[in-house]
Amino acid sequence: MPRVFKATDIEREEKEVKRDYLDRHMPHVICDDRAKKGEIFRVKVRMGDEYPHPDDHDHYISTIQLWNRETLLAETKYSSGAYGNHPSNIEVDFYIMAPEVSMNLSAMAVCTKHGLWQSEDKQVKVV
Ligand SMILES: [Fe+2]
Repeated sequence: MPRVFKATDIEREEKEVKRDYLDRHMPHVICDDRAKKGEIFRVKVRMGDEYPHPDDHDHYISTIQLWNRETLLAETKYSSGAYGNHPSNIEVDFYIMAPEVSMNLSAMAVCTKHGLWQSEDKQVKVV
């Protein structure tokens, strides 16, 4: 089982160099707090907040996943160079159908050099 880096690791870290490293790898789930049952709901996942992640041939973000609790809803894959070999804060929009019950969304991201990273949970009330 790989180690999973989590958002709480950033809050505990006070060294600037380490904050940079943690920030650029952290996926963030960005969406409304409420969704309408049976309607299409947009969920954005953004990598990092202040610091962009490299897009080098041997070091890039290869996978971003969207989860609802233990269920994988969607996944996207990137090749190196997809962002022109420029550091960036990758964003991807997922469109899902809001289910019958409220959601607890999270995102996972894979860096080819630094492993598996997990966002904070995002609660979405379905009305
Ligand atoms: Fe990395």
